[in-house]
Amino acid sequence: MTKPPIGGNRTGRKLGQKVKKGKLKASSRRWIERHINDPYVQRAQLEGYRARAAFKLLEIDEKHKILSGAKRIIDLGAAPGSWSQIAAKVTNSTDAEPKVVAIDFLELDPLAGVHILQLDFLDPTAPEKLMTALGGTPDLVLSDMAAPTTGHRQTDHIRTMHLCEVAAYFAIDVLAEGGHFLAKTFQGGAERELLTLLKQNFKQVIHVKPAASRAESVEMFLLAKGFKGRKPGARSLYDSETEIDDRDMVDERDSVEAD
Ligand SMILES: C[S@@+](CC[C@H](N)C(=O)[O-])C[C@H]1O[C@@H](n2cnc3c(N)ncnc32)[C@H](O)[C@@H]1O
Repeated sequence: MTKPPIGGNRTGRKLGQKVKKGKLKASSRRWIERHINDPYVQRAQLEGYRARAAFKLLEIDEKHKILSGAKRIIDLGAAPGSWSQIAAKVTNSTDAEPKVVAIDFLELDPLAGVHILQLDFLDPTAPEKLMTALGGTPDLVLSDMAAPTTGHRQTDHIRTMHLCEVAAYFAIDVLAEGGHFLAKTFQGGAERELLTLLKQNFKQVIHVKPAASRAESVEMFLLAKGFKGRKPGARSLYDSETEIDDRDMVDERDSVEAD
């Protein structure tokens, strides 16, 4: 059971630590203080995960059951690798027969059972390389990709939303029927066109904000469950305008944050 790590910690490190004023900029000091005092960071160290992000995936899975039964998983924007660690475990992936392929333009330390591609996902060769490395159809496409920040909020937003959109197209192109797609997005949610596309291709589309995602962060996740399969004539974003029906869109932001 994935519970938010409230209260005591078992790493032996005290919470509420301060970093001494010195040469560090105030913003850097605040970041370090937040990091060392973050119970999810401490719990990730304790449980052997490479990043606190592991708990975002585990919390989403606890509620929405997207990992169990997954036979092949693609992890987009995987560094440092905590989602891939989980993916390798649930698929019983081995180096001899990897069931998980991870991509990031940053270097990832080797991970048992994970085929790693160090490449920009937006590179035109990336989709084919991912699929060749996986050697079969994925039933789960994960994307925690976030564009490197420029400091300009709107630019950062647009660039990360673009990554989300490209990842969605990729998922629709490659997923097995019944498969799921989980992607990082930003508050304000995905563009209507993207939501429409996902709703046309998946049985359920949900915005989720797991407790492990910092409340002050604009980060959210878009979960599309139950891929309907590729059908001839399926619409895409480039098709002419479509009527939007948001009736079965569920927005869980409030309920999940309140957990
Ligand atoms: C929040 S981190 C992912 C953390 C990861 N889920 C984990 O559990 O360790 C986002 C990652 O997306 C990667 N990324 C952003 N844009 C990318 C792109 N165009 N192609 C590949 N990776 C990208 C970044 O390099 C970064 O490592």
